[in-house]
Amino acid sequence: MCSIIGYIGKKIASPIIVNGLKRMEYRGYDSVGVATESENQIELKKGIGKVNEVNLKIHLDKLPGKIGIGHTRWATHGKVTDVNAHPHPSNSGKIAIVHNGIIENFEELKKQLENEGYSFKSETDSEVIANLLQKNYELTGDVKETILKTVSKLKGHFSFVAMFENGQLAAARFHEPLIIGIGKDDFFLSSDVLGFIEYTDDAIYMENGNFVILDKNKFQIFDFNGEHVKYVITKVSKEFGDAYKGDYAHFTLKEIFEQHETILKAGEKTPDAIEKTADYIRHAKNIYITGSGTSYNSALIAKQIFSKYAKIKAETIISSELQFAPDSIEENSILIAISQSGESADVLDAVRIAKEANCKIISIVNLLTSSLARESDIVIGMNCGPEIGVAATKSFTSQLVIIYKIVQKLSNNDITINFEKFSESILKILENPKKIQQIAKELKDISDIYILGRGINYPIAIEAALKLKELTYIHAEGIPGGELKHGPLALMDSNVFVIVFNPNDSTYSDMLTSAREIKARNAKIIGISDIESDVYDYWIEIPKIDEVLYPISEIIPIQLLSYYAALEKNTDPDYPRNLAKSVTVK
Ligand code: G6P
Repeated sequence: MCSIIGYIGKKIASPIIVNGLKRMEYRGYDSVGVATESENQIELKKGIGKVNEVNLKIHLDKLPGKIGIGHTRWATHGKVTDVNAHPHPSNSGKIAIVHNGIIENFEELKKQLENEGYSFKSETDSEVIANLLQKNYELTGDVKETILKTVSKLKGHFSFVAMFENGQLAAARFHEPLIIGIGKDDFFLSSDVLGFIEYTDDAIYMENGNFVILDKNKFQIFDFNGEHVKYVITKVSKEFGDAYKGDYAHFTLKEIFEQHETILKAGEKTPDAIEKTADYIRHAKNIYITGSGTSYNSALIAKQIFSKYAKIKAETIISSELQFAPDSIEENSILIAISQSGESADVLDAVRIAKEANCKIISIVNLLTSSLARESDIVIGMNCGPEIGVAATKSFTSQLVIIYKIVQKLSNNDITINFEKFSESILKILENPKKIQQIAKELKDISDIYILGRGINYPIAIEAALKLKELTYIHAEGIPGGELKHGPLALMDSNVFVIVFNPNDSTYSDMLTSAREIKARNAKIIGISDIESDVYDYWIEIPKIDEVLYPISEIIPIQLLSYYAALEKNTDPDYPRNLAKSVTVK
């Protein structure tokens, strides 16, 4: 998703900005641009493609000056074109902006500005900010007044950085992340700590509805009423700096291979939070669990585990759907919000709705400094380190471990899980990827994969389908095994691959029957199981473990299969087309 960055200080800005944009590449984008100010002149370069490609072509990092802004765009309003890329200059060229979010009333504002003589080059909603700033700056001649007047007109979600020809930077935040980095003799602005982590460890997480004005050696933060705001400087953990892929070809592969270690760290940095969560749950009127994408699939598993092992009923809600049924949230309940990034706009929106109904918010989140963490009553940290690959892998298994830990507490430790031993069995799967690599070759030219699971293995089938879609662009569908005969069986023929999750649990024999029905229609079967069977064309063995842990160990072979099939298909496993790691727009 869009990343914004700003720099003001004693160094040449453009290489620092380009570097920061590269660090944030994982968020997903389609075009990039940089603008700098030098000798009261703004210069700007932008184009379609990856930061490195565009930089090689038009030398973004050679722009002069010690003040600058940069952006990677993930198209929402207007096609992927050079003109639609950010930064956007105002008509006079004396102000340039980069923006993350959506200005909902941009059409109305654009019309008003056009009537006043302003013209627009791009199809974006963002360009209205540049011209609105110009209009207000010409009216007031003062940056603070300009920002106040401008934000009062904007509807929607935004964080933007504006660069003024006089050498000042200003940035405003409204429901989109914005962080100030404080260097020794410079300041940074970014939507992500990774934008400046190489240069400083001191950061201010801007509050919603605040803006900052920066000069070379000072800055001031105000709220949207123009009042001074106090701030706290947070030491950003150096852990964020660990976002390199080391000896691995891709971040996704590195992150899959880290899982035998990351599952042991889940929840460790927030030790009391799990106990407190169990307590909240015991006394809650209703429990809702929400998330998007992979995190929603964790919610589906949580619901089943809560019910089976702790006899606690919970309702799952897809975050983006809650806005259409806000009344389904009963007052004074609990919302458990699951999100790796803690910045997904849909999840934050669901949290806002739940808060309006006086619900307590418990979040399971990887970034403890994220917007979601700051909106929550209790925060449980996944603690799995930066996840850069767009498709979630290690964050998913860490979310599941946290859910197990909550259930352990709820059941007064009736279920005992030996995570150390479990970690060893995960390592066994990871150490033997050869067979999975072979199977991945078979998937190269196929167009459909169906994935069957029953009971607790059904949400894993949904997550497996998501991984295959994201990484290989193959159409993949998770189906509850028993539903096969109610429709999907019509699709089975020799061109189809079916993955069956068939661990040795209560679903085993029914799933074997489903597999035989598929086999009779000549489809190829990949069996994920701890028991071999002649019904499988390909058998991926998972270790024999405690039944409760099958969901975690089952997904790992599919993460690997999706990764290796992506290599076979020549798609980029780290940055799948059209997707973004952190979806900060609705
Ligand atoms: C995007 C990513 C998915 C992720 C989802 C939720 O769609 O591409 O991989 O599962 O966001 O992200 P979150 O950070 O809220 O867990």
